[in-house]
Amino acid sequence: SKRVLSGIQPSGKLTLGNYIGAMLNFVALQHEYDCFFMVPDLHAVTVPQEPAALREQSESVAALYVAAGLDPKEAAIFMQSHVPAHAELGWLLTTMSYMGELERMTQFKDKSEGKEAVGAGLFVYPALMAADILLYKANFVPVGDDQKQHLELTRDLAGRFNHRHGDTFVIPEPFIPKVGARIMSLEDGTKKMSKSSPSSGSYISLLDPPDDIRKKISRAKTDMGREIIFDVQNKPEVSNLMSIYAQCSDKTVEQVQAAYEGLGYGAFKKDLGEVIVQALEPLQRKYADIRSSGEIRHILRDGAERANAVAESTLAAVKEAMGFLPRG
Ligand code: TYM
Repeated sequence: SKRVLSGIQPSGKLTLGNYIGAMLNFVALQHEYDCFFMVPDLHAVTVPQEPAALREQSESVAALYVAAGLDPKEAAIFMQSHVPAHAELGWLLTTMSYMGELERMTQFKDKSEGKEAVGAGLFVYPALMAADILLYKANFVPVGDDQKQHLELTRDLAGRFNHRHGDTFVIPEPFIPKVGARIMSLEDGTKKMSKSSPSSGSYISLLDPPDDIRKKISRAKTDMGREIIFDVQNKPEVSNLMSIYAQCSDKTVEQVQAAYEGLGYGAFKKDLGEVIVQALEPLQRKYADIRSSGEIRHILRDGAERANAVAESTLAAVKEAMGFLPRG
C-alpha cells in the first residue's frame, strides 16, 4: 500500500497551526496508508537546544501524536535520531544539492536573516528532510503550506538521484489541507502562527489551559469593519479565525460564515474560544494519561524498529547504486 511520512519538530510547544496544518491529516491518513510519523530531533538541533528541554519536548511531541489520535499499532511513531539512516542519507543527498537551490529556501532566508552566526545545519537542512521522506519511499507527505518549497526540493533531489544512479526513489507529493494550510498569528494576520514566537498571545499551544485559550481568542486582532466574512485579501485576521473555527468544528468556512451572518466579532470570538477548548479537551486529557503511563518509551522503541527495517533497506540500495564498496 502507499506510504506516508511526516513530522513536527520538537523545538517548542506545538501550536494550533501544527495541529490544523499537519496533525489532523496525520490522523486522517493513518488507516488508509502505511504511515511513518517521526519526531525530527536531528532537525531541531539546527538551532541550539537545551539538552533537558530537547529531551522533554521530544517525548512531549510523541505523546501529542498519540493524544491527537494516532494509533501506534497503525502508524510507526519514532524519533528521527533512533534511525541512523536519516543522518547517513542526509549526507549523501547534501552532496547532491546545489548551493543555489539551498540559498533559495525561504525558511533558511527567514531563519538566518539578520543573524551574525548562522549554523551550517540550518543551510543543509532541506537535504536531511529529503532523506526523511525518500528513505520510506513516501508517496504523500502531509504538511502545511510553509513546507511546500522543501517538498519541491525533495522531488528535485529524488529525480536527480534516479537520473544519475537509476530508479531508486519514489517522487513524493505534498498533502496540504484546503483550509488551514497556513494558520496566521493571532496578533498579526500577515505572519504565520509559530511555536518559536516570543509572544505567547500570538499562538495557541495545544496544551494551553482552557482559560488561556479563551483569553487569547478574545484578545486576537480583528480587522476593521464588523462582518464575519471569509475574505483573505481584505479581512485576513477574521478569515484566519474562521479557518480555525471550521477546522476545529468539522464545518466548512461557508457554514461558519452563514452561522454568523448579522452577528458581530464579540459573539463569534466567544464561540470560537469554546470550539477550540472543546476540540483540544480530549487531546489534553489523553496527553496527560499517556505521559503519566510511561508508555511512550515503548511506542518509540517499536516505531524505531519498524522504521529502521524500511530505512536500512532503502539506504543499502542507495549505497549500492552509488558505488560504495559493500562491507562484505
Ligand atoms: P515544523 O516543525 O515547523 O511544522 C510541523 C508541521 O506543521 C505545519 N505548520 C503549520 N501549518 C499551518 N499553519 C501554521 N501556522 C503552521 N506552522 C507549522 C508545517 O507546515 C509542518 O507540516 N521541516 C519540517 C519538519 C520535517 C518534516 C520532515 C516534515 C522534518 N522532516 C519530513 C515532513 C517530512 C518543519 O520544520 O515543520
